[in-house]
Amino acid sequence: MTEKIKSVAVLGAGTMGSGIAGLCAERDCQVLLLDVSMEAAEKALERIVSGHPPALDSIQKKSNITLGTLSDDLDKIIGCDWICEAVIEDLQTKRNLMERLEPLRRDGSIVSTNTSGIPLRDITRGMPVRLRQDIVVTHFFNPVKVMRLLEIVPGKDTKPDVIQTLAKFCGAELGKGVVHAKDTVNFIGNRIGCFWMLSGLHHAGRALDSGLSMETVDALMSEPVGLPPTGLYGLIDLIGLDIMDFVGKNLKINLPKDDIGKHFTSFPAKEEAMLKRGQLGRKAGGGFYRVQKLNDGSKKKETFDQKSGDWRDTLAIELDGKHRTIDMMLGDDIEATFAWHTMGGALCYAADLVPQISDDVVNIDRAMRWGFAWGRGPFEMLDAIGPKRFIAKLKDNNLSVANMLSVLEKSGESHFYKNSGTEYLGTDGRYHPTLPE
Ligand SMILES: NC(=O)c1ccc[n+]([C@@H]2O[C@H](COP(=O)([O-])OP(=O)(O)OC[C@H]3O[C@@H](n4cnc5c(N)ncnc54)[C@H](O)[C@@H]3O)[C@@H](O)[C@H]2O)c1
Repeated sequence: MTEKIKSVAVLGAGTMGSGIAGLCAERDCQVLLLDVSMEAAEKALERIVSGHPPALDSIQKKSNITLGTLSDDLDKIIGCDWICEAVIEDLQTKRNLMERLEPLRRDGSIVSTNTSGIPLRDITRGMPVRLRQDIVVTHFFNPVKVMRLLEIVPGKDTKPDVIQTLAKFCGAELGKGVVHAKDTVNFIGNRIGCFWMLSGLHHAGRALDSGLSMETVDALMSEPVGLPPTGLYGLIDLIGLDIMDFVGKNLKINLPKDDIGKHFTSFPAKEEAMLKRGQLGRKAGGGFYRVQKLNDGSKKKETFDQKSGDWRDTLAIELDGKHRTIDMMLGDDIEATFAWHTMGGALCYAADLVPQISDDVVNIDRAMRWGFAWGRGPFEMLDAIGPKRFIAKLKDNNLSVANMLSVLEKSGESHFYKNSGTEYLGTDGRYHPTLPE
């Protein structure tokens, strides 16, 4: 088994493949970068060197990268410690490539597949034992150079030393924040993040009907809860309604049948209409917001008012003191009701998904901080609110107490973390040492 990774084959030189290849080359790994044609591989190298931002900081490290094609050069993977597949998100394409590469790689090399949501068990179904023991999912986030999160997902036959070696390399050498996830739909970050966004659209629609503005919705879903200033609508504009629609459809098929997320896999009617007319977000020139260039060269931000169905000037919102902290979601006005349903709902969702998607609360908190730039992960937020107060509100509203909150309640403890975060509460109701970040 490879003990130290020094050479990497990246198969597929698109957005993710070129990002991974650039990062590895920057850290002095020998990289074999293959794509469907030499032209595609050369274009990828151009992006690696002069993209925005370039994947390589030091141009001379370009010499660490050797280009080739998947048809002529796949046998060269025999010289590589890690074979990282990053071709299109298509099960059959990934399976075909796995079948071709397996006889060509040497014993002890590690294989990974980059997928946003295809289960590893589907990719490896019926494949040789040697491959099933040596393979994991590596879920990097885009842009690879910038985003800290890397989710590593083993299959049921993956050998522990494969996970350890790859996690050590990606953490220590590539500078990633490694989170250990399970082979479940959307892994950790996207499972919780997409629930928050898709359910948020539905709750926000009701909040707008009750009189909140879209800008207030975004203000409530940013600073008070420790999320980036894009809030809810702003983040969906950045991602694009087309991607969110794709995610929703995938969740609809793959979520477990009793998962509460099943209620939120389709858009509310107004967002569905936006999708149909191509009002997708920033990449389409506007979604919920747009920036207009005026004749004098200045810029004006506008909001697509969901109530009037028309563009208007964006409001500048200053939340009052009582809505500026995370505690506001325990209140009972319109702002609190929206925040309780959206953020409180996502916290309950996360608390119900341990141990289903992660063995512990730590990996979930890190995934949300490193992949979605949340200031605090869900359990860190619950600790800030006070889990007992949160549970009391659930009970007052005749709502069930989500799994990890119930573990905490039964343990008689008051928080998910203690001793400045160096210990966390496990599913057994006892504290365990938190591994350093
Ligand atoms: N882009 C993201 O934000 C993101 C984030 C996380 C994970 N992912 C996953 O990473 C993988 C790669 O995504 P991407 O965004 O880099 O895609 P991409 O479309 O940018 O690149 C895919 C590459 O696959 C190659 N390809 C196309 N058809 C092929 C075939 N039949 N056989 C072999 N190669 C083929 C293309 O030439 C291209 O270079 C996907 O599984 C995707 O879901 C993407």
